Amino acid sequence: MKVLEGPVLGVETSCDETGLAICTTDGRLLAHAVHSQIDVHALYGGVVPEIASRDHVLRLVPLVRKVLAQADLSVDQLAGVAYTAGPGLAGALLTGAAFARSYALGLGKPAVEVHHMEGHLLSPLLEPDVPQFPFVCLLVSGGHTQLVAVRGLGEYEVLGSSLDDAAGEAFDKTAKMLGLPYPGGAALSALAEQGDASVIDLPRPLLDRAGLDFSFSGLKTAAITRYKSLGDGCRADLAASFEAAVIDVLVARSLRALRECGLQRLVVAGGVSANRRLRDRLERETAAVDARVWYPRLEFCTDNGAMIALAGALRLAGGERTTMAIRARPRWPLTELSSPGPG
Ligand code: KG4
Ligand code: ZN
Repeated sequence: MKVLEGPVLGVETSCDETGLAICTTDGRLLAHAVHSQIDVHALYGGVVPEIASRDHVLRLVPLVRKVLAQADLSVDQLAGVAYTAGPGLAGALLTGAAFARSYALGLGKPAVEVHHMEGHLLSPLLEPDVPQFPFVCLLVSGGHTQLVAVRGLGEYEVLGSSLDDAAGEAFDKTAKMLGLPYPGGAALSALAEQGDASVIDLPRPLLDRAGLDFSFSGLKTAAITRYKSLGDGCRADLAASFEAAVIDVLVARSLRALRECGLQRLVVAGGVSANRRLRDRLERETAAVDARVWYPRLEFCTDNGAMIALAGALRLAGGERTTMAIRARPRWPLTELSSPGPG
């Protein structure tokens, strides 16, 4: 097969962000743009799937034009197209997949399906200071909380996962209960700034157990129970306690994963990796054990097209291609991935 080189268009539509970007097969990001639908969904307190799909349809073409202009490229200079095929909302995924697969067909260029969480876990590779393989990745988003041993592109071993709510989901549900707008993670963290985490004691689920799994739904329920008994006056202290409990668990589990794998490199990605206090704690505690942590820049912690363009460009360069089928895979385990290659 002819080696593929050049700029690759990336298309992300798995949830409520339309993300477009162009990244070269040697990992240089040339352009990126995101349209967030948060304002629309905030009216309903959460993502409304049908509205998400319809809004992606409206945004895709203008955003492609925008990133091509930013990169100063004409459409025929694209070497290929990459798009998120899963996991995510079925309708939202199908919108992006149908658009991107057809776009590649029209251009006569190859296309590749990208796993959304692979996009997240490779996102720190968009930064100038790139972590080398192998590393441990803590993936913390609205839909997933996982620790993954990453030995190379497509070589992933899931070390532990949440048995119930994802960390971001627990942030969002607790924030909603405290009357904060959707999505609540950043808002809850801002409220925690005014509180004292030592006033209200909340559990650290599974922390005293062996293994690398997580559980956040009991913590969320404990926070709700305390709110009902203490009332509005405790909101800031409760936000601070909740955030501290989640961070304690994420940090302890990440350090254990590094120890068990004998690795010193930790990558943290996904929406919750934007959390300032989580970053500070991980920086201090990894340094204390001669390890190091890498993150994507803040705008690439949450959903974006740049991470999909990068993952897709690396896979296309490795010889991977999709068939003509337009597929959405709402549930797609990360462990089904393998190194890129034809077939
Ligand atoms: O990766 P992402 O954009 O979407 C998914 O793939 O799920 O992650 C979104 C999640 C939401 O749950 C949001 O509340 C959370 O990331 N989040 C945060 C912060 N910023 C975003 N959680 C805690 N602290 C933050 N600063
Ligand atoms: Zn995501």
